[in-house]
Amino acid sequence: MRTYTRGAPTVFFLCLVCCIVSCKADKNPNPVIPFLNANYDSHPMLYFSNQDIEDLRLKAESTHQHITIRITQAAHTMLANPGEYLPPWDPEDFSARWNEIYGNNLGALAMFCILFPENTKALDLAKEYMERMAAQPSWLVKDAPWDEVPLAHSLVGFATAYDFLYSYLNKTQQEKFLEVIANASGYMYETSFRRGWGFQYLHNHQPTNCMALLTGSLVLMNQGYLQEAYFWTKQVLTIMEKSLVILREVTDGSLYEGVAYGSYTSRSFFQYMFIVQRHFGINHFNHPWLKQHFAFLYRTVLPGFQRTVAIADSNYNWFYGPESQLVFLDKFVMRNGSGNWLAEQIQRNRIMDGPGTPAKGQRWCTLHTEFLWS
Ligand SMILES: *[C@@H]1O[C@H](CO)[C@@H](O)[C@H](O)[C@H]1NC(C)=O
Ligand SMILES: *[C@@H]1O[C@H](CO)[C@@H](O)[C@H](O)[C@H]1NC(C)=O
Ligand SMILES: *[C@@H]1O[C@H](CO)[C@@H](O)[C@H](O)[C@H]1NC(C)=O
Repeated sequence: MRTYTRGAPTVFFLCLVCCIVSCKADKNPNPVIPFLNANYDSHPMLYFSNQDIEDLRLKAESTHQHITIRITQAAHTMLANPGEYLPPWDPEDFSARWNEIYGNNLGALAMFCILFPENTKALDLAKEYMERMAAQPSWLVKDAPWDEVPLAHSLVGFATAYDFLYSYLNKTQQEKFLEVIANASGYMYETSFRRGWGFQYLHNHQPTNCMALLTGSLVLMNQGYLQEAYFWTKQVLTIMEKSLVILREVTDGSLYEGVAYGSYTSRSFFQYMFIVQRHFGINHFNHPWLKQHFAFLYRTVLPGFQRTVAIADSNYNWFYGPESQLVFLDKFVMRNGSGNWLAEQIQRNRIMDGPGTPAKGQRWCTLHTEFLWS
């Protein structure tokens, strides 16, 4: 495996140590990132641990049934049409067009496998899915090699599935897939120093790419690649924490890219906030923008709301989530039931045909976090 440690400017180093020291004053100011609240002896660890799985399976049949139904529909659709949903083996086909769909769908399939491990067909499909992705020399799109977004979708989906399904993979797969994650993460890390998403704060590519790198880093960290994971994580935190400082100035809870692209940005933002809370004890749940963001989403179901015309979109629908974001707000920020209520309204009001309809993959992409945060 290639290693990707490279000297980052000292200022980044100090910045992160300061942040961690001030966030967690009772911890030793150790240059190794203090990983908290998770069991790093095994996978899964990103969003939940082994000992949580029994509880997740119980919820799937009781309180979370309404989301389980949608996860099951997604998995059954993939199982019924593997030719349509499995990534192609051939790198020419894989990279021939915009391919974020592969990473997007994999998370829902992996979640289904966790909830229903007796469904060996789904497990086999997920493993073949990963084999096909791992067979690619690159996850970039041929005509857009300067754009890491498609790679980020593949990386975040693949690394999440790796974490969820680790115990179902054989040794060869565990090792090979880890190398794929390391390679893609190393590539993201290197490009973060020269691409806009490393310094154009709040642009929708930024949280997407950073969250992918962070997910890959945590998996690597768990597998003992501490040095790589340390530098990569530090880079993500340096970028994302600045973003969140800027977001404090947005007092009405909006995102300048509108509703549809905004939901794309916020999906990764919320995953980031959950992950840094779980793994580093960095708590953003009192962030003032979060407290107002419910109002931004609420407006989209008011009578007469048609569309927003914003920097990046003119669609009148939501792309990623926003049910996942709303249950996040309810669970960690508002805690008064309104987030879950609005998620239900949006489910009911979702336009399933015509312009502005999100693709299946965009809707499926956030099912696992919607389930986990509900
Ligand atoms: C690693 O990733 C880069 C960029 O995605 C790609 O060009 C390269 O072929 C990959 N190498 C391996 C061994 O997968
Ligand atoms: C692991 O699984 C793959 C795919 O099913 C198979 O090709 C490989 O031989 C297996 N390796 C081991 C060591 O069992
Ligand atoms: C819950 O909190 C949100 C945000 O503060 C607020 O807009 C909403 O009215 C509250 N809902 C209830 C039922 O109090």
